[in-house]
Amino acid sequence: MKQRPLKAAVLISGTGSNLKALIDAVALKGLNLDIVHVVSNRTDAPGINHATGTGIPVTVISHTGFLNREAHDTAVASVLQESQAELIILAGYMRILSEEFTRRYNGRMINLHPSLLPLYKGMDTYNRVLLSGDSETGASIHFVTAGLDSGPVISQVRIPVLPDDDASALKTRLGPIEHKLLTATVGLFCKREIGYREDAVLYRGQPLEQPLQLDPDEMVFN
Ligand code: GRF
Repeated sequence: MKQRPLKAAVLISGTGSNLKALIDAVALKGLNLDIVHVVSNRTDAPGINHATGTGIPVTVISHTGFLNREAHDTAVASVLQESQAELIILAGYMRILSEEFTRRYNGRMINLHPSLLPLYKGMDTYNRVLLSGDSETGASIHFVTAGLDSGPVISQVRIPVLPDDDASALKTRLGPIEHKLLTATVGLFCKREIGYREDAVLYRGQPLEQPLQLDPDEMVFN
């Protein structure tokens, strides 16, 4: 028997191409996900437009109008609470989160990061990969904990760094592969195959020793 769709909220700050990938996967490919809310911390985030016409409620909560980080996070949390989201997906949400917010969603919030974590936490990953002379890079999806980009890693995808790559070329090549990684990984959540226990990822009920390594050509979710 098919499970009911998993309720998820997606948090964005910018382009929202990963939000679009999720919306398309639901509409066109049967991803068993119910995107119950989109939250943006930027009024001008182009990604907001991807939700327009889909019926997905969007709330913009600009971080500029709050006294501090905690107050902004509390406002976001009250929208998430109302939405009844079971999974919180950070898809290009460019905010450092308060400890209280990460604790509240411990084991229920994931982030997409453009590097092979634990390498290159934080910003400007592409240039740092190039400066280090790495032969490969990739993207990771991890549970969000209090440390920046530090929670247990669920899944990764790898791509080679090519001799002529600059940061922009790497980003362009990685983008569509990130979309697949995100939809495939969210698909595992929709099948209830991913869980969380004591700072560890559970995959089909067992602790995951290493992040799932997904093949960009074979990533599927149903
Ligand atoms: C992605 O590269 C993701 O890895 C990073 O932010 C970017 C978001 O892109 N966290 P978009 O806004 O989904 O297009």
